Amino acid sequence: MKILPVSSESLKEGAEILKNGGLVAFPTETVYGLGADVFNAQALAKVFEVKGRPHFDPLIIHIAAIETLDKTANLSILNKETREKLFVLAENLWPGPLSIILPKSEKIPGIATAGLQTAAIRFPDNEAALKLISLSTGAVAAPSANPFGGLSPTRAEHVKNGLGEKIEMILDGGPSRIGLESTVFDITGDVFKILRPGGTPKEVIERLIGPIIDGSSITDTSSALVSPGQLKSHYAPRTPLYVLNREEIINKPYEQNSTFLFFDDSAKDEWFNAQNPPQTAIVKVLSKNGNILQAASRLFEILHEFDNSQASNIYAQLAPNEGLGEAINDRLKRGAIN
Ligand code: TXA
Ligand code: MG
Repeated sequence: MKILPVSSESLKEGAEILKNGGLVAFPTETVYGLGADVFNAQALAKVFEVKGRPHFDPLIIHIAAIETLDKTANLSILNKETREKLFVLAENLWPGPLSIILPKSEKIPGIATAGLQTAAIRFPDNEAALKLISLSTGAVAAPSANPFGGLSPTRAEHVKNGLGEKIEMILDGGPSRIGLESTVFDITGDVFKILRPGGTPKEVIERLIGPIIDGSSITDTSSALVSPGQLKSHYAPRTPLYVLNREEIINKPYEQNSTFLFFDDSAKDEWFNAQNPPQTAIVKVLSKNGNILQAASRLFEILHEFDNSQASNIYAQLAPNEGLGEAINDRLKRGAIN
């Protein structure tokens, strides 16, 4: 396996690997993806194997041009109104952190969509990703480049630590800008539903196409899953993670060997005043002044850091539950053991 910084040469090399059925991890604006040619069933099988991903969990298909929708989706099945809304979304939010569930094209092997008749299509907002996709076959299936169920990678190094020698190449494009996965949005049913909150807040979608449903709420059962990202336990650090609201974390006494993650400085300061922890306490803040974009971009990054420390527990504060805060809280709750 080699790690190469993004350049026109490394992108060409990566695209060749993809065309030959190999796996290439690449940067996107959300998290790093583990790419395979979506038209090559054998390459897709390797993705499942390398990630330890169950075959019932479908992959997201990444495209780099609107025209490629025809090769990946079958839009003729959608009614006119839905098609119009799709184009409003595509025009306004693509490229960007939004995966749209559409009827799948016959050209896509069943393994990509876990046998479903639908496919998640995403047009990422990252130059290197777009270049890599265009230089390959134009459509690249890519789950997050981490072992199944674990933290998503926001740096090339996270990919190396998680998947290492199992893949051919990692393209290093620096830290991910958004740091949380795309929103998965299903427009194939009578009601439009968010299956996974993510980088595109619900409010942004509603402003464009009117009211939609949040179908992502956490359930304890793994049966009848619409989107396996809905599994109760997912996005989990190896270190036991507990989530707390603002009041709970402020009242949480300091514990040796535990790490504390606050949403902003105001919560951290109140906790310091109330609990008087020792100088050695390991404490992090998602965003000093509570900037939600910054908070989102640092979440996985900090959890990876905590995982590499010797901490025995992580106590994390939930974000205000609006906009990107919903996606932050979704990941925290699914990663938590409480
Ligand atoms: O930001 C992202 O979406 C990243 C980057 C690499 O693009 N990718 C990502 O992929 O997070 P992954 O495989 O880790 O998560 C894909 C989610 C899963 O929860 C999967 O169940 C859901 O999308 N999904 C994919 N196809 C689906 C389909 N046809 N119907 C319902 N859910 C689907
Ligand atoms: Mg994932």
